[in-house]
Amino acid sequence: MNFERNILITGGAGFIGNHVIRLFVNKYPSYRIINLDALTYAGNLENLRDVEEKPNYVFEKANILDIKDLERIFNEYKIDAVIHLAAESHVDRSILSPLDFVYTNIIGTVNLLNTAKKYWKDLSGKLFYHISTDEVFGSLGEKGFFTETTAYAPNSPYSASKASSDHFVRAYGETFHIPVIISNCSNNYGPYHFPEKLIPLFINNIMHKKPLPVYGDGKYTRDWLYVKDHARAIDTIFHKGKISETYNIGGFNEWQNIELVKLLCTMMDEKLGNAPGTSENLITYVKDRPGHDKRYAIDATKISKELGWKPSVTFEEGLSETIDWYLENQQWLNHVTSGEYQHYYEQQYQNR
Ligand code: NAD
Ligand code: TYD
Repeated sequence: MNFERNILITGGAGFIGNHVIRLFVNKYPSYRIINLDALTYAGNLENLRDVEEKPNYVFEKANILDIKDLERIFNEYKIDAVIHLAAESHVDRSILSPLDFVYTNIIGTVNLLNTAKKYWKDLSGKLFYHISTDEVFGSLGEKGFFTETTAYAPNSPYSASKASSDHFVRAYGETFHIPVIISNCSNNYGPYHFPEKLIPLFINNIMHKKPLPVYGDGKYTRDWLYVKDHARAIDTIFHKGKISETYNIGGFNEWQNIELVKLLCTMMDEKLGNAPGTSENLITYVKDRPGHDKRYAIDATKISKELGWKPSVTFEEGLSETIDWYLENQQWLNHVTSGEYQHYYEQQYQNR
């Protein structure tokens, strides 16, 4: 079968990747979607059971550090576009093990760029779309927003590695004329989120009546976006974004951690039929994260005005859907917390 486009999506078995894969496979039957993923602790093919039999979907277990595999995949599938999500993504892990982030996020990205450079002799119709984070901009004070022109000032090894990969993508665009686009998104939440990040960790802990470890005074602010809205934004940018541009993605939805945790506790108590206040009693203030960024907030005017994207759900709707999903998918939670993650969990939280 001849496909209109052959799109390599890296990290498709991870949290955001599975939503992007599902959207593209279902919405664009004329595109072949090649999911390249190393299946680290964060990648799980259970996340994609509903698409794996589709004729326009292929899975390739491969590591972006393995150039031979990348070259074989570009050659075999005649890749003409890349949506690059594969990464080490958790700030706390980056504090424990910065080099893992250097390898995958920086060297892995450069490997992919080099492969595209080698295989894309004719650059027309090609696209290397790099998925990044607002954390590259560092921390905001009480006022103001990150825009596309905010200077990079990463504070964690994770954000430093993502900032570096963004710079390499830009540099390959300028130096080798590879058609590139970068988007920088705020914190995502939703189904299939690995339970080491704030929202799924706390949902899991509330379900098991375990302590909710709030870092520092809990007065840190994040700007939350439903993962399916991020996937829609990626679709929009992939099809309508301008080459060499960057786009910020966010929902104008800022929450202080402690306020978000209280809302989560109230919603979960209602859904679980608990007496009001039951889950809030689990809140435990713990030692702060080193280099903890105070506030993130995205100005998403550019993507909204130029490309017509805006979020489709309110935070309360998205959070309610997310909690319901976790309550209905406890097997998924048990499975993904059973392996290497369990070891990490012991190290991080149980000894506090
Ligand atoms: P995730 O950790 O859930 O998934 C990462 C995926 O990449 C996993 O499937 C993993 O197996 C795969 N992977 C890791 N190392 C690999 C390697 N060396 N080779 C091949 N595959 C590898 O991450 P996520 O939250 O889905 O984030 C996806 C992307 O979006 C990342 O680039 C991240 O920086 C970016 N991002 C995330 C958020 C967020 O809130 N989660 C926000 C903005 C941007
Ligand atoms: P996280 O989900 O790790 O995302 P990021 O660090 O990339 O923003 O954390 C979100 C916020 O929640 C951040 O301010 C750190 C805080 N946090 C806690 O207070 N306790 C926790 O157990 C975790 C994982 C995070």
